[in-house]
Amino acid sequence: MGSKGSRSSGVKGQGAHPIAAADRQKFRRRLLDWYRRYGRDLPWRQTTDPYHILVSEVMLQQTQVDRVLPKYREWLERYPTMEALAAAPEEDVTRTWYPLGYNVRPRRLHAIARESVERYGGSLPSDEPTLRSFKGIGEYTAGAVMSFAFGQRAAILDTNVARVLFRVFVGRGSPKAHAMKRRLWEVARAVLPRRHVFDFNQALMDFGATVCVARKPKCLLCPMRSDCAAYPFNPDNERG
Ligand code: ADE
Repeated sequence: MGSKGSRSSGVKGQGAHPIAAADRQKFRRRLLDWYRRYGRDLPWRQTTDPYHILVSEVMLQQTQVDRVLPKYREWLERYPTMEALAAAPEEDVTRTWYPLGYNVRPRRLHAIARESVERYGGSLPSDEPTLRSFKGIGEYTAGAVMSFAFGQRAAILDTNVARVLFRVFVGRGSPKAHAMKRRLWEVARAVLPRRHVFDFNQALMDFGATVCVARKPKCLLCPMRSDCAAYPFNPDNERG
């Protein structure tokens, strides 16, 4: 992103800030404008309840929104609070989860609920290091809970967000390489606004899920395309 010379030191990032202030500002404004027009109205965007946010984010980790929606509602009816989930037998919890895949996520969620009840009275701690000390709360989930439930200025980076930031600010290479992941976390922190962090982080995820998709990104619908580092390399985009 950014015209020649407007970046402080390029995304190679030897400078104090990897992306120039004007470029960060432009990106935020365009993304938030896009989200306010086209963002999806999803139930976990109507709440700041830490338990609800946690459930939605764990469900969404490996599952598409359409499949999560009915299960999220059913789950909250069955286990409306952290206490209700903690008190449920494990077989019940894994059975309720089952259509989302037979894996470790329900057991992790259950263990988090039990720890929350035992140590924090059924709430989640609102500081990132303590949150990260829970088994099953990694860097991404901690950022999501901190920004969505506690309104903190915390970055998130999942596959969708990594792809958006990689394309806009880096352009070529692989967003999956380990070193690139670190770099993209830096970018995610650098572009975070001071206000509207909830909307901004939700917008990044929505934009990656609906416009800046993995295959055949919809560049014609993208408000960032004139400054996107990857745009010229997409063979579907006409050049010159
Ligand atoms: N994927 C992960 N978290 C999400 C969220 N909050 N909204 C939409 N998709 C997501």
